Amino acid sequence: MWRLIVACLLFGTLGAVDRQNFKTCDQSGFCKRHRAVTSPTGYEVVSDSIKINDTGLHALIKNKDTTLKVTIVTLHDSTVRVVIDENEGALKNRYQPLEAVKKTKEEATTTKILTTDGNRVVLQHKPFRVDFYVKDKIVSSINAKETLHFEAFKKKVLLTDREKGFWEETWKDIKDTKPHGSSSVGVDIAFVGAKHVFGIPEHAESYSLRDTRNYEPYRLYNLDVFEYETNSPMALYGSIPYLVGVHQKRSVGALWLNAAETWVDIEPTTADKGGLTKEVLDADTKPRQVPQHNARFYSESGLIDVFITLGPQPNDIFRQLAALTGVTPLPPAFALGYHQSRWNYKDQKDVKEVHDGFVKNDIPLDVLWLDIEHTDNKAYFTFDKDAFAKPEEMIKDLADQNRKLVTIVDPHIKKDSKYYIYKEAKKNKFLVKDAKDAIYEGNCWPGDSTYIDFLNPKARKWWSEQFAFDKYKGTSKDVHIWNDMNEPSVFNGPEITMHKDAKHYDGFEHRDVHNVYGFHQHSSTFDGLKARSNNEVRPFVLSRSFFAGSQRTAAVWTGDNKADWAHLKQSIPMLLSLSTAGLPFVGADVGGFFGNPDEELLVRWYQAGAFQPFFRGHSHQDTKRREPWLFAENTTSAIRNAIKTRYAFLPYWYTLFYEHAKTGKPVMRPFWMEFIEDEPSWDEDRQWMVGSGLLVKPVLEEKVKELSIYLPGKRQVWYDWHTHKARPSPGAVQIPAELNTIGLYQRGGTIIPKLSEVKLTTKDNHEQPITLYIAVNQKGDFANGTIYLDDGESYSYEKGDFAYWGFTFKREHDYLHTITNQNLDKKGKFDSDVYIDKIVIRGAKFYPRNAHIFLDDFSPEDLDFEFNRDNFVMEIANPGAFVTREFRIDLHS
Ligand code: NOJ
Repeated sequence: MWRLIVACLLFGTLGAVDRQNFKTCDQSGFCKRHRAVTSPTGYEVVSDSIKINDTGLHALIKNKDTTLKVTIVTLHDSTVRVVIDENEGALKNRYQPLEAVKKTKEEATTTKILTTDGNRVVLQHKPFRVDFYVKDKIVSSINAKETLHFEAFKKKVLLTDREKGFWEETWKDIKDTKPHGSSSVGVDIAFVGAKHVFGIPEHAESYSLRDTRNYEPYRLYNLDVFEYETNSPMALYGSIPYLVGVHQKRSVGALWLNAAETWVDIEPTTADKGGLTKEVLDADTKPRQVPQHNARFYSESGLIDVFITLGPQPNDIFRQLAALTGVTPLPPAFALGYHQSRWNYKDQKDVKEVHDGFVKNDIPLDVLWLDIEHTDNKAYFTFDKDAFAKPEEMIKDLADQNRKLVTIVDPHIKKDSKYYIYKEAKKNKFLVKDAKDAIYEGNCWPGDSTYIDFLNPKARKWWSEQFAFDKYKGTSKDVHIWNDMNEPSVFNGPEITMHKDAKHYDGFEHRDVHNVYGFHQHSSTFDGLKARSNNEVRPFVLSRSFFAGSQRTAAVWTGDNKADWAHLKQSIPMLLSLSTAGLPFVGADVGGFFGNPDEELLVRWYQAGAFQPFFRGHSHQDTKRREPWLFAENTTSAIRNAIKTRYAFLPYWYTLFYEHAKTGKPVMRPFWMEFIEDEPSWDEDRQWMVGSGLLVKPVLEEKVKELSIYLPGKRQVWYDWHTHKARPSPGAVQIPAELNTIGLYQRGGTIIPKLSEVKLTTKDNHEQPITLYIAVNQKGDFANGTIYLDDGESYSYEKGDFAYWGFTFKREHDYLHTITNQNLDKKGKFDSDVYIDKIVIRGAKFYPRNAHIFLDDFSPEDLDFEFNRDNFVMEIANPGAFVTREFRIDLHS
């Protein structure tokens, strides 16, 4: 019977998400209880309980029912951690997803008022509250609304009706036995001065988080929600419980380190309302005029473990988050190229034809993907014996043409006593158990399935070993991995996921670890890929589920979207939100997963995707084939142009990923990160920056004649990428929306390296000549930019095999401008032959008379150039300069 239900569930409702499958707050016992906390819960610091030692400040807090212990620790770089747990003698340990955070260096504390980099943390006793100050301004506070609510574990005695929901809960005939009762936790966090709050992905919502007072709270619970709704706070595939409150001078971040089901309420307000009025007044401001956002986080189990990062500037915020949850290490270069996927490419012949189609149609491609049907009856780590009889040959054929293969490996394991993965996992006790200690069984693609317990370190190690070439037969270093369905998806489970009372390693229930399950799968997949090549080849792993810290080992995509304009638009705030929460390698299924896009939508989606970090076309098995050449010639040609444009900017993308790993700054950037002075631009959800130099606005509407673009910042200049036309900011422009139009502006003051000519794979484009685009700043005297180079695939860059160089354009005096390059990291020894075969200067407000270049030997050589007096563009052809050898070009006027 349930097979039928599952089938309907999966395929019967094409068109809209089936809301009935997923809980609202009202249908979740603890969510309802927490939302009902509106009056002060009365916690106070127990007098004489405060102790300060090398590990931090420790105190007890108490209300009429419960005593809790609070620990406040100042970490390096303006970061403070506040932990609230049960006092000694608790009936059970609470789970902490510590793997999500990197080791944080802890500093000694000396006074009751802790200081980090001149900032203050003040513990208020009655009522209990923790305030955070940057210099003398209060910027954040925990429990200012006194909504701290903590359900301590207790012994099960005779139950009253009221207590029943506390000890068991039934939803759609599925019972959650809750053997330990409820143990939920929640508290409010205020962001004083914050005009907007951003983050807590994943939701198909606006980028700026909305007021939830008359709305559902945002839910963080990793779920398989295909055909999700747009503009909805419903939970989706992944969760990063991190939020940032943005302020012109004092932005603040908060990481809520808890892996259980979590809901977040957002309340925009002003500082005259609520508990902080006096503190804001002390800082000599009118509280009525100070915007404030209160966020209330509440989780079903675990403890309160909050990291507050005190910024204050956007760069600080991203660096501080990176210090906590890490960065994406430099990806292999191929992963930044175009990926072609479909559920499913049928057989080896199909793979070859699709591959050859790209070559024949002159469309760049780096990777072909194989979805679940390539396996031997959904047994992962195997190939179908007929359709993919000779995987080695297929992979070699792709690799010989500089292309890669990605195969799917899901966490559910086919229950089949002949399947070696199942047998080994069972024998080793690496499978999740149910509430009664039997092996947990659920239904997924293979039918009856079991699930690897990724919470068990030994199971993770074993899983990683399965990627060794002698185990995963037929694969080679040119095969990379896709981890799907890892929320985990259980077709017949509650809300299409695992029962909360299922049991994991070390005595924890699934409810405690749910949101970190997928994280552990993709992390061990990554470890396995690295180990199979003796740590020589950089792995690429795509995961659907994620948690804080996932960026260290995976790229993610936004799951099963639809081929409609609303989903194309929705993908942008979704990707910006992920980028804000520290996960930079993100993308959406280009074209939309469900349904058939018309040709215009498909083109527009390719144009948007070409400027998003992870760029993959993918579609459902019931959709029509949509390889780019199956359409009218102008459609194919527009798709070709979009993909080629992506490839042309690869040197820039690669440099941005390198810089992300150094600084934590995302690659796809929200406007507030670059233009904090331009408040109206902060919540922009239709445009974005690629790095700090390139503004992107794709066409997101059907059949429009014009595209309006907002140019953010104050007193900046922007140049239309194609016409070079300069525009001041803030301002708006309208450009004609032709089929090939992508709104693209270069910011004055930047230099962007671009390939002069595009070949069909990243490998073929490696070390090819580049054109430098210099966009002179508003004053007309400066621009700079960077380039990063290495072999694109190995780890030898960690040993110095890289080059990181800068370019500078400068007005030296009235008659002389120079262009120079500088080695920005002398540890880099990568010997590169990349040369600059053209320089384009936009906004050259001088009349050049001659130009010459100084190379190593300091004897100048004359350069040919053209200067256009109408648009102030100077072009220097073949300057004879190499990127990684010092040069100086003098432009005399
Ligand atoms: C669900 C994924 O979201 C989708 O991308 C994939 O094609 C199917 N699973 C089949 O594996």
